[in-house]
Amino acid sequence: MNSKELFSQSSRLFPGGVNSPVRYYDPYPVFMKKGEGSRIYDVDDKSYTDFCLAFGPLILGHSHSEVIKAVRSAVENATSLGAPTENEIKLGNIIQTAVPSVEKMRFTNSGTEATMHALRLARGFTGRNIILKMEGGFHGSHDYALIKSGSGTLTFGVPSSRGIPEEVSRTVVVGQYNNPQSIEEIFKKYGKDIAAVITEPIMGNAGVIKPEKDFLGFLRDITSRNDSLLIFDEVITGFRFGFRCFQDIAGVKPDLTTMGKIIGGGFPIGLFGGRDDIMDKISPVGPVYESGTFSGNYVTMAAGIAALNQLRKMDYSSLEAKSSFFENTLAENMPEKEKFAVSRFGSMFQIFLGIDHPVSYEEVIKADSGKFMRMFHKLLERGVYLAPGQFETNFISFAHSKEELETSALKISETLKETGKA
Ligand SMILES: Cc1ncc(COP(=O)(O)O)c(C=O)c1O
Repeated sequence: MNSKELFSQSSRLFPGGVNSPVRYYDPYPVFMKKGEGSRIYDVDDKSYTDFCLAFGPLILGHSHSEVIKAVRSAVENATSLGAPTENEIKLGNIIQTAVPSVEKMRFTNSGTEATMHALRLARGFTGRNIILKMEGGFHGSHDYALIKSGSGTLTFGVPSSRGIPEEVSRTVVVGQYNNPQSIEEIFKKYGKDIAAVITEPIMGNAGVIKPEKDFLGFLRDITSRNDSLLIFDEVITGFRFGFRCFQDIAGVKPDLTTMGKIIGGGFPIGLFGGRDDIMDKISPVGPVYESGTFSGNYVTMAAGIAALNQLRKMDYSSLEAKSSFFENTLAENMPEKEKFAVSRFGSMFQIFLGIDHPVSYEEVIKADSGKFMRMFHKLLERGVYLAPGQFETNFISFAHSKEELETSALKISETLKETGKA
């Protein structure tokens, strides 16, 4: 069955034919059946260079042999045990050693769960109600995160979802990333009612927006001065630029951190963790409740251990070199008349069309989504699979070869030369 036929079946089962809205694009998404290294294969056996990489977990590429081996061996023992296992300790130890701010942690099944619990914990710990998040920041799809959010909410034009009670949305205030003044004004107004500031250290759900010098340090300072907690959502940035989190590169220590994606080796995972005294407020030792049937799942833990043990051996500077080569090849071959910007940090990148200065959410939001999707479709024809949205992030993995990156960059520039006609 081809993608069109499968879509007509899936549409009868799932809203929009998909199980997550970011997978949808007009007129229907290509259905995939296999991933191998840097390549993804559709149901018609067409292969693509994959820059979406399942929205981020696959920094080692698809189906890394060590991860597959670990998963095979784990399922020989069990699928799920619903009891503590040694695997949880092994993965926890790896993470605790690599990310010193995470003194204690809890595994969850997704980044959404991780931020939801971290926010409840921040409220429970401080006894305050207000959460400050950044406009365009995405922290998953629970009620406290879906206020002026990014990712698919921007693509589909619903940055704040229906169905969230006003009482809830009133407890979330929104500041501007890279704009200390906007944060200061909020603190002046709500001061001692702010339980926590949550931010992605690098914005990855409004394309890629890098932190300006000292912005993260400023957040550390203002939260400490007001006895509020600082939460870094490192679901995308954890273990992406080195065997550590971005906080270590920035030199800013948050009180709590959330992670997901890479640490599960391609299996469903999330984590929230941080200061010992805060984490000890979690049930059963503390009064803040959190639980999950599948949390710390035996097979997921095995996949995460294998992925991180593999990553520990990898030379992240080679990934940076490949990514910078890709960016330069793109920049050198871009059509002159086209207004565009390539925003890259390490192996995260986005190509913004119609803008040339993607330093803030206000700028990025002016990008030409329609043109981006025309480029996306032309690239699909040419065998390049980008994340399907102007406000998503693309990723380069250790499995991408330099040749493949060069070919893809040239295909992107060729496609852009045609965008007038596209
Ligand atoms: C920064 C960030 N936080 C949280 C989430 C939610 O994670 P999940 O999709 O695993 O629920 C995402 C998902 O893309 C994310 O990018």
